[in-house]
Amino acid sequence: MKKRLIIGNWKMYVETPQKATAFAKELRAKMRSLPNVEVGLAPSYTLLSAVAEALKRSTIKMGAQGVSRYHADAHTGEVSAKMLKEAGVSFVIVGHSERRALGETEEVVRTQMMEVGEAGLTVVLCVGEKERDASGDYFTFIKQQLTSALVGLNKKTLSKLVVAYEPVWAIGKTAVDAMKPHEIQETIIYIRKVLTEVQGREQALKIPILYGGSVEAENASAIIKEGGVSGFLVGHASANIETFLPILKALKNG
Ligand code: PGA
Repeated sequence: MKKRLIIGNWKMYVETPQKATAFAKELRAKMRSLPNVEVGLAPSYTLLSAVAEALKRSTIKMGAQGVSRYHADAHTGEVSAKMLKEAGVSFVIVGHSERRALGETEEVVRTQMMEVGEAGLTVVLCVGEKERDASGDYFTFIKQQLTSALVGLNKKTLSKLVVAYEPVWAIGKTAVDAMKPHEIQETIIYIRKVLTEVQGREQALKIPILYGGSVEAENASAIIKEGGVSGFLVGHASANIETFLPILKALKNG
């Protein structure tokens, strides 16, 4: 059985501590049957303490959906990497397209990555093109996002890096509209090549590359078998245990 990684990005779908706790507890109970699957859940800030409590002493990791670029001091409404660590977070999703759309630039993404790495947490760096055109410009776009985030990054941050490839046009749809496994595979090979150029082969081979964008029970098996990915970053289908569990099972068997 291959080792797999899956992260549930709850976005604003899970709203209450009651729902978050029930989900986390139910998932915990299923982990024994998924020995090769590493699972992370990324709740909203307001749910972190409830989820941390529900996941105490479990193998499931808790993450955050975002982080401040600032280290400390007077920044109203911001949450620093250090504060997230205190709350029990072990990874942070950085550079998600929904946050880039709110104005987080490549420079901001880079600064956030450094803060997360400095706090000793894992960065889950999201990259992905807005659209696919026949000329293949999306490859250049992905390369630019990766290199701007990674060049010059310190070893501590790099040693824990996870990359999530999420084509923006495929996010939030259904399995039918999602990216096809062979296209995913082609892009994952390309991302690995860029990582090799930036980090060297040995380091690049260690970086898990996830796919995200309309992963559901219907397409999970095919993507894991043919897409060349280490696992998934799942949005809407991770918000309910009934839609999340079948994806975990597909990962276990894939
Ligand atoms: P989706 O979201 O699974 O709802 O497409 C994925 C993501 O944005 O991380």
